[in-house]
Amino acid sequence: MMYYFIPKQAERPVYSYRLSVVHFWALIFTYMWAGPHHLHYTALPDWAQSIGMVFSLILLAPSWGGMINGMMTLSGAWHKLREDPILKFLIVSLSFYGMSTFEGPMMSIKTVNALSHYTDWTVGHVHSGALGWVGLVSIGSIYFLIPRLFGQKAMWSVRLINVHFWVATIGIVLYIAAMWIAGVMQGLMWRAVGADGTLTYTFVESVKATYPFYAVRLLGGVLYLSGMLIMAYNVVRTVSGSKAVDAPIPAPVLAHA
Ligand code: HEM
Repeated sequence: MMYYFIPKQAERPVYSYRLSVVHFWALIFTYMWAGPHHLHYTALPDWAQSIGMVFSLILLAPSWGGMINGMMTLSGAWHKLREDPILKFLIVSLSFYGMSTFEGPMMSIKTVNALSHYTDWTVGHVHSGALGWVGLVSIGSIYFLIPRLFGQKAMWSVRLINVHFWVATIGIVLYIAAMWIAGVMQGLMWRAVGADGTLTYTFVESVKATYPFYAVRLLGGVLYLSGMLIMAYNVVRTVSGSKAVDAPIPAPVLAHA
């Protein structure tokens, strides 16, 4: 989506084709070795966990190479970000990609994972990737496609796209900030022990302490969801205003005699 829709919307060529090829192969090669970062401190042999950690750290480079290629595609067209909300979706999506692919390698470090694993920190990481990166780039692509698919010049309301952008962005930020803080707090509470080696907090106490953060998470999620409803309304108005266009009749396919 990044390599197609950002150049299209920015009306600029991809910054570097060479980098895109390197980006592709480097991701393909590196990602498959990074899997063990999901299995730290399990029955998986320690050397395999270490390989997972090292390749996860290396993975920062191809991930950011791709992100930078997308960002730099906007060279000479940065001013378009000011008035084009579709471009805003696409570029902020890339920022979330950069953020979650920085966070991922950090979480793959064994000592960091000892704190983050099983906590809501992982949930925050997942959602900065899922809602921030994948969600926003998909939304931007849909806004690009809908008018073209239904023979319209533009979406019914560009203002509503802007509203959607801000509602979604604020929603994600609330969501992941709440999960980060909750996650670190849970990790610290679970590992706290008194002088006699007994746990300082019960699990239930950690759940209770997380409650306010779940309220913020709910608010963030509701904001993100309402953004999607705004988009649905805008799409319905755009599509219902479209007129049927005569499709060119395809030339008959002649079988070779
Ligand atoms: C360089 C890139 C990345 C690295 C090295 C990385 C690393 C990690 C690590 C260490 C964890 C925690 C594992 C655990 O404690 O159980 C994790 C969880 C996760 N990450 Fe990433 N991450 C990266 C990018 C992304 C992106 C872009 C997404 C997109 C959505 C993503 C999706 C997930 C998901 C779904 C989980 C949760 C898996 C589970 O709990 O079963 N990651 N990642």
